[in-house]
Amino acid sequence: MRLVNIAYVDEGSILARPVRSANGRVLLGEGVTLNQNFLTKLKQLGYDMLFIRDDRFKDVEINNAVSEKTKEIAYNAICTITTAVDNDSNTNIDADSVRFAVLNIMEDLMYSFDILSNLTDIMGYDEYTFHHSVNTTVLALILAMGKGYTQSKLLELGMGVLMHDIGKTNVPKEILHNKGKLNEKEFEEIKKHSAYGFEFIRKNRDFSIHSAHVAFQHHEKWMGGGYPRGLKGTEIHEFGRIAAVADVYDALISKRPYRDAMEPYQAYEFILAQSGHQFDPEIVRLFTKYVAVYPTGTGVELSNGLRGNVIGQNASLPNRPIVRAIFKENDPLEQHIDFDLSRQLNIMITKIENR
Ligand SMILES: [Fe+2]
Repeated sequence: MRLVNIAYVDEGSILARPVRSANGRVLLGEGVTLNQNFLTKLKQLGYDMLFIRDDRFKDVEINNAVSEKTKEIAYNAICTITTAVDNDSNTNIDADSVRFAVLNIMEDLMYSFDILSNLTDIMGYDEYTFHHSVNTTVLALILAMGKGYTQSKLLELGMGVLMHDIGKTNVPKEILHNKGKLNEKEFEEIKKHSAYGFEFIRKNRDFSIHSAHVAFQHHEKWMGGGYPRGLKGTEIHEFGRIAAVADVYDALISKRPYRDAMEPYQAYEFILAQSGHQFDPEIVRLFTKYVAVYPTGTGVELSNGLRGNVIGQNASLPNRPIVRAIFKENDPLEQHIDFDLSRQLNIMITKIENR
C-alpha cells in the first residue's frame, strides 16, 4: 500500500485501509473500489489522503503506533466526557474511562515502540479537538517512554494529556469556533482554558495533581512567554514540556477547514527550530529519535529524478528512510528499485509528492 493524495487517486483504485468517520465508524471498507462518487464525497468531507493498494508496494506494511480500536476507545472517552462537562460544568470527569483509554494506548505502544512511529492519520474535518487529544496523547506517551518513564508515571501523564484541553468547554463557543483571526480580548478568553482545565481535573480525586498540571502548563514555553503563568525552563513540570511538543506537532500536521496541514517533515523542522526556545531541548531530542520525518507510505521525489514512496525507516537516521523508486512508470519496462538513504548518502529527498 501507499499513501496517495486524493487529487491523484484514479477511479478504480482500491482502498488498502478503511476510511473512518470521526467516531471510528467505517465509511468505506478496506478493499472497496473507489468510484467518482466516493471520491467526490470524501473530498467534501475533508479527506485528502488515502491508503491505496499498489502491487508494487505489496510487501510494504504500514504499522501505526496504535490500533484503530484503541483510538476509538480513547476518542469515545473524551467525546463522552466533553459532552457531559459541556452540559454541566460540575460534572465529575469519569476518570475510569480515561484510565482505561490510556492503558490501552500504553499497551499498543509497548509493541510498536522500537520502530520510528508512524502517526499518519487519515481524517476529515470532523471533530478535530477529540482526534487531536488522542493523537497528542499517543505522541506524548512515545516521548515519555523514550525517557524511560515507569508505567505509573506514563499513566499519570497520559491521563493529563488526554484531558489537556477539557477547559475549552468553559470558553464561549462563539470564540472557540471563530475561524477568523481572534482579537486580543478573544485570545485572552481562549488562554483561560489552561486554568479551567486545571480546575476541572484538580477537583477530581481520581486524577493525580501532576495530570492536572498538563492542562495547566501545556502552553508554557521553555524560554518563557507562554501562558498562563509565563514559566521558564524547569519551572515547567516535565509533563507540561512533553505535552507542549506533542500538542504543537499534531496541530501542525492536522488539516483544518481554514488551513492545510503541514507535511510531517515541515512540522518536524518547526519543532527542531524551536528547540531551546519554545520547547525543552531534551524533549526535542527524544522527538527526533522516535518520530519519523518521512512517515512510511509518503510519496517522495529523489535528487536522482526518480519518484517513489517511503517503504521503511532507519531508527538511527530518522531523516534517511528507505524509498522504493519506480523506473519508467506506466511503461511495459517499468521496474522498481529500493534506495536505503542511510547508505546512499549521495541521494536526497527533494520533494514530498503523494501521487
Ligand atoms: Fe490547549
